[in-house]
Amino acid sequence: MAVRGRFITLEGGEGVGKSTNLARVVAWLEARGLEVVQTREPGGTPRAEAIRRLLLDPDVEEPLDVDAELLLVFAARAQHLARVIRPALERGAWVVCDRFTDATFAYQGGGRGIDPARIAELERFVQRGLAPDLTLLLDMPIEAARARVALRGETPDRFERERGEFFSAVRQAYLARATAAPERIAVVDASRPLAAVGEQIDALLAQRVSAWR
Ligand SMILES: Nc1ncnc2c1ncn2[C@@H]1O[C@H](COP(=O)(O)OP(=O)(O)OP(=O)(O)O)[C@@H](O)[C@H]1O
Ligand SMILES: [Mg+2]
Repeated sequence: MAVRGRFITLEGGEGVGKSTNLARVVAWLEARGLEVVQTREPGGTPRAEAIRRLLLDPDVEEPLDVDAELLLVFAARAQHLARVIRPALERGAWVVCDRFTDATFAYQGGGRGIDPARIAELERFVQRGLAPDLTLLLDMPIEAARARVALRGETPDRFERERGEFFSAVRQAYLARATAAPERIAVVDASRPLAAVGEQIDALLAQRVSAWR
């Protein structure tokens, strides 16, 4: 049987550079001969991407209930785990995912105010012990990150339409998770130029990955 692959996630608020740096993580691992599956949440399979659209569509006529939002996030995650993440890890591939359950604790917990104990119940139910081996938390001040998103010039989704307090709560919840699990979650100062962020990520990968092999 193949040795189980490793599971790496990138986390952080809107516009901190998760998608940009995910490509760098994938390239770093592939350069070392590893099979890498690159994916994202919510989504990662056609049905889970359909759930993503339900989550991101701006509320027009019917607001989405906060518990319904939480359950949709975990429904998408169950599908993604079953179809993509678990099979990849079992055949020995590495999985690099743009957002995972830390985002649920940050957005639905910190942002929406859902009790983290309720989120943790769903985490146990859906993940059955599976958790990322390493999480890169890209952190930077909210205003600067929002300016980056604005530069992209896309129509804001349901989350991007939230107010400043929502994003502060998301950021604080992410940082609290990093403090509680420093061996898994590495905080990266994402406010710096991309090259500097990338160098810190490379150094973190070199340090963590060599410790595993
Ligand atoms: N260190 C950086 N300095 C300046 N601009 C950056 C940096 N990192 C990323 N960007 C730019 O900021 C924008 C947001 O980056 P990116 O899309 O990677 O963020 P994200 O975290 O994936 O955002 P979202 O949460 O909306 O998916 C992009 O236009 C990207 O080119
Ligand atoms: Mg992105």
